Amino acid sequence: MTTIQNRFSRPGTRPMVPGALCALSLAVLAACGGDSGGGAQNASGGDADMTAATGTEAPAPAELSIDPALLPEGVTVEMVQQGRDLFVGGGICFTCHTVEATGGPLAPDLTDDVWINVDGEYSSIVELVKTGVAQPIEHPGAMLPRAGLPLTDEQVEAVAAYTYMLSRM
Ligand code: HEC
Repeated sequence: MTTIQNRFSRPGTRPMVPGALCALSLAVLAACGGDSGGGAQNASGGDADMTAATGTEAPAPAELSIDPALLPEGVTVEMVQQGRDLFVGGGICFTCHTVEATGGPLAPDLTDDVWINVDGEYSSIVELVKTGVAQPIEHPGAMLPRAGLPLTDEQVEAVAAYTYMLSRM
């Protein structure tokens, strides 16, 4: 009986079924491989104890990898670190640009080297933070001057320094 059925099935269609199954298994295997790779990152939480004592609410990492050679004139490593604290904290930049500064529906990614309103130079970023963006090009709502806060020039320069360095660290 089976012999007869096999004879009636067209030879051309038969190899396609195992072929499709094969491709499916490969896709499943690839997905599983990806999962286990991502899980491995959780293992490296060992040095969290060293920074736990600071008690800051900011979820960002304590250490930035800043190459001093890349700092613009007049900018120090301390300024960039102070700027990071403002960005993810009291300067409220993170509320629109996100804590990672990768952007979202309200504000653009600041970690890439694509700029919409500025040329990416430090001075242009300082100027933008002071003036805000009254009419955004790609986002629905305005960015207020100094994010609508009484930030001092020093604080604006620090947060601009951090923004400038985001795409360089
Ligand atoms: C209310 C939301 C909001 C807040 C808060 C905010 N921004 Fe923005 N930001 C924007 C928008 C909107 C733009 C313009 C995007 C556009 O033109 O499409 C922008 C643009 C920028 C740009 C220029 C990016 C580019 O590609 O042109 C920089 C730099 C910047 N913001 C830094 C900051 C800093 C630093 C802070 C905190 C002091 C901050 N922003 C707070 C919404 C915000």
